[in-house]
Amino acid sequence: MDKVYIFDTTLRDGEQVPGCQLNTEEKIILAKELEKLGVDILEAGFPISSPADFDSVQRISKAVREPVICALSRSVEKDIKAAGEALAYAQRGRIHTGIGVSDFHIQYKFQTTHDKILEQGIRAVKYARTFVDDVEFFCEDAGRANLPFLAKVVEAVIKAGATVVNIPDTTGYCLPQDYGAKIKFLFENVSNIHKATVSVHCHNDLGLATANSLAGLQNGARQVECTMNGIGERAGNTSMEEVVMTIKTHKELGLKTDIRSELFCPTSQAVSDMMNMPVQPNKAIVGANAFAHSSGIHQDGVIKHRENYEIIDPKDVGASGSSIVLTARSGRAALRYNLAKLGYRLSGEELETAYVQFLDVADTLKKIQPEHLEDIMASLKIERVFESVEA
Ligand code: KIV
Ligand code: ZN
Repeated sequence: MDKVYIFDTTLRDGEQVPGCQLNTEEKIILAKELEKLGVDILEAGFPISSPADFDSVQRISKAVREPVICALSRSVEKDIKAAGEALAYAQRGRIHTGIGVSDFHIQYKFQTTHDKILEQGIRAVKYARTFVDDVEFFCEDAGRANLPFLAKVVEAVIKAGATVVNIPDTTGYCLPQDYGAKIKFLFENVSNIHKATVSVHCHNDLGLATANSLAGLQNGARQVECTMNGIGERAGNTSMEEVVMTIKTHKELGLKTDIRSELFCPTSQAVSDMMNMPVQPNKAIVGANAFAHSSGIHQDGVIKHRENYEIIDPKDVGASGSSIVLTARSGRAALRYNLAKLGYRLSGEELETAYVQFLDVADTLKKIQPEHLEDIMASLKIERVFESVEA
């Protein structure tokens, strides 16, 4: 199994989301949660962007010792200096510098030439190496860049001392097979590619961030940049829990991570609470409905054997368990199951009567709660036979 390095950018790309800003104390709390989760690299902020962000990176560097602490900079001297200084106390610090490499960025953002971009990138890496031994270079908008030029930049920055090269699909434009092919092209056309780790950093504008990241990993990348709950600019970044659980579920990929996946749900909750950003109920892995079954056919299948309808054991991601939600689409098996959890054991005839009453209530309410079942039992004068248990 090949290790995939998890580069968490919840506190940088994730924190850029309007309304998600954190103060330093909150960032330190989340950084410690992410350390417990086992992230390999923690991007703590963008020190030049504000004194508070500088302070956050500096204080996280002191407080969080396990992961590599990373600071973002543009390919500009004053940014790189600020990043280097903010990382001074890190056990292991990394400067993440880079520049736009697509024709869009070169022409419309920088209004410069390809050669000047290349020179600026090389200069940035060399300067960053005067502060730290570990320098990651991001080729912004690599997803839309001219491939031979991208390869030329990657080769030059590795030669200048970059230890990691990041190939972001900044605008979330790529299709999985095209993004995978770009990574493959770099492995086949950059002579010194094996001297650096190739990193994938995908955005979710078309809902393809996880698929694109996996395509990159299947073509040789060994670092994935992601956030908890997939938060990030616009439609978000690659969601850490999705990539990690796909790798864990599909052993045939031959990949592994060091993430303690059983901490996913509590970490997701902490990020959501602290950043004031609710998790959509149908979010893969950590959504409230990720292990909830509501249609009669599925409920019957899960009650008979969990794996009929679940590919992940809820315990593996720290979820409270599979739930059989009672709605008007539920069947008798689900009703019997939920009544048994409350301590009622019904004969076939009693169940039929209870089911008719249940459907009556369920047709008017969206979701049936235990107290509604208690009411039905009381109206049918059915006694509890044992104490209520949580199955
Ligand atoms: O999406 C992007 O290109 C970025 C870079 C700054 C790495 O976030
Ligand atoms: Zn990004």
